[in-house]
Amino acid sequence: MKELIIETVPYYDDNFSYLIHDDQAHLTALVDCGEIDPVLERLEKNKWGLDYILITHSHFDHAGEIENMKKHFPDAVVVKPDGEKRLPAAGLNVKEGDTVTFGQREIEVVSLPAHTMFCTAYHIDGNLFVGDAFFSAGCGRLFEGQPADLERAMDKIASFSDRTKIYFGHEYTQANIRFARTIDPGNMDLASYQKSVDRLIGSGRFSTPTTLELEKRINPFLRIDRPAVAAVVDPGNERGRTERMGVLRMMKDNF
Ligand SMILES: [Fe+2]
Repeated sequence: MKELIIETVPYYDDNFSYLIHDDQAHLTALVDCGEIDPVLERLEKNKWGLDYILITHSHFDHAGEIENMKKHFPDAVVVKPDGEKRLPAAGLNVKEGDTVTFGQREIEVVSLPAHTMFCTAYHIDGNLFVGDAFFSAGCGRLFEGQPADLERAMDKIASFSDRTKIYFGHEYTQANIRFARTIDPGNMDLASYQKSVDRLIGSGRFSTPTTLELEKRINPFLRIDRPAVAAVVDPGNERGRTERMGVLRMMKDNF
């Protein structure tokens, strides 16, 4: 089987959409639909159609242009979180464990409620598209979920293979690293990641995708059990793991 082609399409200040293309089956899926012009341009340039629109969550910068995109590709199937009433009604509602056939592969649906209660990720061939549920060196703000939801979401992401590539919804990596360094100051992997991300972004490139293997070394939200992280988040050693997760998220909100 030929490898999937995955292209990053940046839009607005720091958003990412992704195009997933299977060259053998001639199928293309778009992950998130916040601004369509850059996506249309890319599809045109590559001479691709559009078969699926995979929506990670309801926020306008990820889902606000679904109906406009459908005008260009009326047959594209909108795949979206089951129960999320803030999205257009038409489409295929999916929940944890569902799969969507994509050529000879399957797109697996992974439910990650926390940022919103319907946040959904899509996993195909070792690639995990997480929207705002997770970012390199960070995670999404808890708009709707509780610390326990965030803890479950981080544990679920951590359960994937270390080789998993993670494609996230915003270029927040530099700010996330600055915060992470205050939480995990002795982490030399984080220090060197900061240098490489600064170089990457300084040369006009993006920090997406990351890998789970790297994130386990540098992302404080995956390192809540590490003594160095716990010492900063819970210096009195008086909180449980879930509460520590909530405190860490709050520290980031206030950073
Ligand atoms: Fe969001």
